[in-house]
Amino acid sequence: MSSELHPDLTLVQSKALRLLFTKLRDKNTSQIDFVRYSKRLMHLLVEDTLVRLPTVEIEKQTPTGLFQGLESTTIPSQTCVVSIMRSGDALLESFREVEPAFKVGKILIQRDEASADKTAQFFYEKVPPGIHKMNVILCDPMVATAGSAVAALDLLCQVKHVDPSQITFATIICATEGLGVLARKYPGVKIVTAAIDEGLNDEKFILPGLGDFGDRFYGT
Ligand code: PRP
Ligand code: URA
Repeated sequence: MSSELHPDLTLVQSKALRLLFTKLRDKNTSQIDFVRYSKRLMHLLVEDTLVRLPTVEIEKQTPTGLFQGLESTTIPSQTCVVSIMRSGDALLESFREVEPAFKVGKILIQRDEASADKTAQFFYEKVPPGIHKMNVILCDPMVATAGSAVAALDLLCQVKHVDPSQITFATIICATEGLGVLARKYPGVKIVTAAIDEGLNDEKFILPGLGDFGDRFYGT
């Protein structure tokens, strides 16, 4: 889906997501409820991401009639879910609950919270051999400046030779600023998000956002 923010952006919206976001965004939500509600939200996001991978129209016989359906043509063992650690791991596990046969890759990138522009720092990666031949689902719940996402995409595309058209980036909240960066640097990557937020504060946190996802999810 084309949008003025990014050429291949899907914004998933529903009343259920609004209810779940109300809990997640509330600063008074406890860690246990944050985990509970974010898992519920991530399950919806997972299904809406998987349906963006290749599918075919198919007719099925129900016990009483015909149904015009949609079937995935993706081979799980040729699909790799890659998390940007730490927060991306939460989303990765939601994908693995739906399909345990997905391959897994991990990239440890952390924002340097001491730097003014919150520069993304790369520490570690482990992805399966042959990832350049797979469908790749990149996971990170939050895109603020997009520094972390761009660092992960640079690794996948420039070092691991994955074509951007093979990558679907699943995220819970994107700031418009980060989407602009992704549109310039990676217009060919598909993005699926559950929210687009307007701005960033001086600390490069998303407004209104939900605070630090990793700290709230893991209780740090
Ligand atoms: C968060 C988030 C993204 C990044 C987004 O991770 O999960 O990776 O910040 O910000 P950016 O778009 O400005 O790069 P963080 O570095 O806080 O690590 P964490 O997952 O361990 O909390
Ligand atoms: N990382 C987060 O977890 N939240 C933000 O708002 C920005 C970066």
